[in-house]
Amino acid sequence: MTLSEAIKSRHSVRKYIDKPIEENLVSILQEKVDEVNEKGNLHIQLVTNEPKAFKGKMAYGTFSGVTNYFAMVGKKADDLSERIGYYGEQLVLLAETLGLNTCWVGLTYNNIKEAYEKADDEKLCCMIALGYGNDPGRNMKRKGVRDVSNASETTPQWFLRGVEAALLAPTAVNQQKFRFEYVGPDGDGVHRVKAERTFSLIGYTKMDLGIAKCHFEIGAGKENFEWSSQ
Ligand SMILES: Cc1cc2nc3c(=O)[nH]c(=O)nc-3n(C[C@H](O)[C@H](O)[C@H](O)COP(=O)(O)O)c2cc1C
Repeated sequence: MTLSEAIKSRHSVRKYIDKPIEENLVSILQEKVDEVNEKGNLHIQLVTNEPKAFKGKMAYGTFSGVTNYFAMVGKKADDLSERIGYYGEQLVLLAETLGLNTCWVGLTYNNIKEAYEKADDEKLCCMIALGYGNDPGRNMKRKGVRDVSNASETTPQWFLRGVEAALLAPTAVNQQKFRFEYVGPDGDGVHRVKAERTFSLIGYTKMDLGIAKCHFEIGAGKENFEWSSQ
């Protein structure tokens, strides 16, 4: 399964079967955790066979059978949430290609402090539940291309493919508070794309934007453009 196929097949899954993740898959995931921690200056940790985080009243009964998760930890910084989103979604899509299911979890978990490491200057931003799903999840309603971008007949095809991939990204309560703007080639001939979050009372828009940018890059092809800094 390619990453583009993983984008299309992924759904949030909240119910899992009681089956430990195979050793070789744990190794592959751990390798990717090490890679994204290095690239993103993060301290994400893969926690396996730990049933307490998603048990009891904090889990609100929505989740069941979760015994594996990524603890999404990083050093406090203004751009931490966006990096957690961008690099965390790389883990989510890799898990999908390995036949595993996932769900980003902002609130509904117990913080089991002994299960992962966190220094004083670090923050646990959220969790990503991981395992063999008991159901495949479902198709959630999505916004349209024109709701979240300036894609038109005159913008490149790769830009449209990027927006379509971003529309399939998971976002907190499916809010999709992001926007992609094609700003055309500059004097240097490089195509640029501006990605912004839009207003939300709920929050998590920085993390959602990082996740959506990860999808956009896969859909559009990273070689076709650069992110605009303004
Ligand atoms: C940052 C973030 C936080 C989330 N927090 C929760 C959560 O606390 N509980 C939950 O059940 N789902 C949570 N979700 C999952 C979203 O509800 C889900 O991604 C969205 O409804 C779209 O569905 P899909 O992922 O199946 O496409 C979260 C997703 C994101 C990206």
